[in-house]
Amino acid sequence: MKIGIANDHASVEMKQQVVAYLKEKGYDVVNYGTDSTESCDYPVYGEKIGHAVASGEVDFGIAICGTGLGISLAANKVHGIRAAVCSEPYTARLSRQHNNANILAFGSRVIGIELAKMIIDEFLSAEFEGGRHQRRVDMIMDVERRESKLD
Ligand code: RB5
Repeated sequence: MKIGIANDHASVEMKQQVVAYLKEKGYDVVNYGTDSTESCDYPVYGEKIGHAVASGEVDFGIAICGTGLGISLAANKVHGIRAAVCSEPYTARLSRQHNNANILAFGSRVIGIELAKMIIDEFLSAEFEGGRHQRRVDMIMDVERRESKLD
């Protein structure tokens, strides 16, 4: 499985730890930056990881900024993206099972690396359950289609 990862300047160290963890677990990892701690703009990296996932270049994405919010908001503007900010494993599992999330986001200023690893494990091992959840995910994607026609 191929995992893309993107982050802002606040999250370089955590990104490096996450990349090492994913590789140790046997995942292919694609790094979309940033690798610099110089102040940068998280929407740039949210858009990059969004495109990587939406185009199928990678199977899932991990997006990290200070809170996980800014980068996830930007990623969610890319069509086809369902990025979920998770600060604990339960939400991470449900974000896959019920919401078919394709990007996991979290905050390097909110959680530590050990909790991040648990969250990642839940996200990557859970599977979308379909059924009634498929209908609701389809409804979310219908909102996206209707809204994009307004441009
Ligand atoms: C950067 O200072 C910070 O705003 C960013 O990492 C993130 O928390 C935004 O949502």
